[in-house]
Amino acid sequence: MSVIRPVICGTGHYLPSRVVENAEFATSLNTSDDWIVSRSGIERRHFASDGEYTSDLATNAARAALQNAGITADQINAVIVATSTPDYTFPAVATQVQANLGITSGFAFDIQAVCAGFVFALANASGLIMAGQAKRVLVIGAETFSRIMDPNDRSTVVLFGDGAGAVVLEAQSGTGANTDRGVLACDLNSDGRYRELLYVDGGVSRTGQSGHLRMQGREVFRHAVEKLAATAMTALEKAGLNAADIDWIVPHQANLRIIKGTAQKLGLPMERVIVTVQDHGNTSAASIPLALSVANCEGRFKPGDLILTEAIGGGLSWGAVALRW
Ligand code: ACO
Repeated sequence: MSVIRPVICGTGHYLPSRVVENAEFATSLNTSDDWIVSRSGIERRHFASDGEYTSDLATNAARAALQNAGITADQINAVIVATSTPDYTFPAVATQVQANLGITSGFAFDIQAVCAGFVFALANASGLIMAGQAKRVLVIGAETFSRIMDPNDRSTVVLFGDGAGAVVLEAQSGTGANTDRGVLACDLNSDGRYRELLYVDGGVSRTGQSGHLRMQGREVFRHAVEKLAATAMTALEKAGLNAADIDWIVPHQANLRIIKGTAQKLGLPMERVIVTVQDHGNTSAASIPLALSVANCEGRFKPGDLILTEAIGGGLSWGAVALRW
């Protein structure tokens, strides 16, 4: 049986030039490099400069992904940007990216599922491709979380960074078997009862201001490992696979302890996990495509590898995608 498979045929990423080392926070806050590294694994992160916006980061990552895929912007039918830090309340960042790339046909929209945003975007893009709505989709995660940090809150400001990653997802034909290349299965979840564990204390309708990120870190941590392992297993089961089949986990890069805990629950050694959190911090929806692109640039994936991506964030919202490279 011939089926349409959404296949990643290019990746790209972009990081703002300003690198903020842990030591920089210790000059204004009661914190230390030791505390940050031991609790989170983060050593540095990038912050966008004044005048550099989420759409700029997204556009740069998209250009790199198009180049990596060896295609031109006019071959793209849809642009989807996962972000919680848009340039404007509306229109969508994706339309700005579309314009920056000179794309004048097809459609563009944003997805907001915070740190799980890229997994949600990849699942939606896959659905559009399988339904015949688009042949090639740019799926981008882009964030400027530095803009929603409370600079005086040491428990959050040290954890997040800015950046963007992008993939080109293309319709290819497959056999329907789980040996096909491309997205094999997705699992998405949300539970709004946990909204207050991680949220931003402002917004258009409530305050008219963008607000600052607030987090109950210990509680988020508790939910994270358990829910990430569960959604990973569900995605694998939907694809008729199990944890032993995974070649690479490309997790949301929030915290090294969460990444290690989830790998351990899945029974996978850290050699099979892509880790970039030390250099990027938590870039929310950008973290998975950033990690995918960095690993791809390093030549770590080979055709046929089974890749499992998983993420959790505000909402709470969480999910996983199983795909073959
Ligand atoms: N420097 C020094 N001390 C700090 C800092 C800091 N930057 N931040 C907090 N502390 C203090 C706290 O005030 C507390 O002090 P107290 O004991 O005197 O009250 C102490 O350190 C311990 O605080 P905890 O919050 O219990 O520390 P914990 O070991 O849980 O680590 C952390 C905190 C890193 C936030 C952890 O809970 C975590 O990783 N949670 C997951 C949250 C996360 O990754 N969120 C990202 C968004 S969601 C997602 O992407 C998955």
